[in-house]
Amino acid sequence: MKKIIYSILVFAAIGILINACSNNQKPAIEAKSADSSAVQTIKDPNSPKPMALMMRQMAANADSMKAKLLRGESLDSLSFPFIRFYLVEPTDKNVLEPQFFKNADIYKAAHKAVFDHPKEQKKYYNLMINACISCHENYCSGPLRRIRKMPITE
Ligand code: HEC
Repeated sequence: MKKIIYSILVFAAIGILINACSNNQKPAIEAKSADSSAVQTIKDPNSPKPMALMMRQMAANADSMKAKLLRGESLDSLSFPFIRFYLVEPTDKNVLEPQFFKNADIYKAAHKAVFDHPKEQKKYYNLMINACISCHENYCSGPLRRIRKMPITE
């Protein structure tokens, strides 16, 4: 019994470590290699923190902003409001240091600039993605591969 509890704890710890700041494919691979009862058990300790959930929303928004721009449509701030991710609990509380909040401010300004320049939204969208990347280079490198595909290159 002790062994089982121990291995569940180890799985949970691995799950938490690789959850937010690494590629999302990894937990799925972990889960496949475990037997199905263990998969059930590790779901709960693995539940994402509010900041991670907001980041997923920001990434989904960026994807649809890009799609709209590529269709030649313009972006309005009501459809893509600024998400105040820096006010909520992160997976790793150590990120909440001055440099993180500075990066958040830079990102916030870059997000606003997209809507302040209705005629140059592609350019300002790309600058906004650069602000995602700058913070991620310091705090959470896992999603970088995905974020680096977000700029409009045409
Ligand atoms: C000020 C720093 C900062 C900025 C700016 C930022 N991020 Fe993040 N991002 C983080 C941190 C820290 C986490 C980890 C959050 C957690 O685990 O609670 C994260 C997590 C993520 C995740 C993984 C979420 C998950 O667990 O599934 C994605 C995807 C992501 N960010 C995309 C983006 C995109 C896209 C942008 C810009 C539109 C962006 N981020 C801007 C710091 C930032």
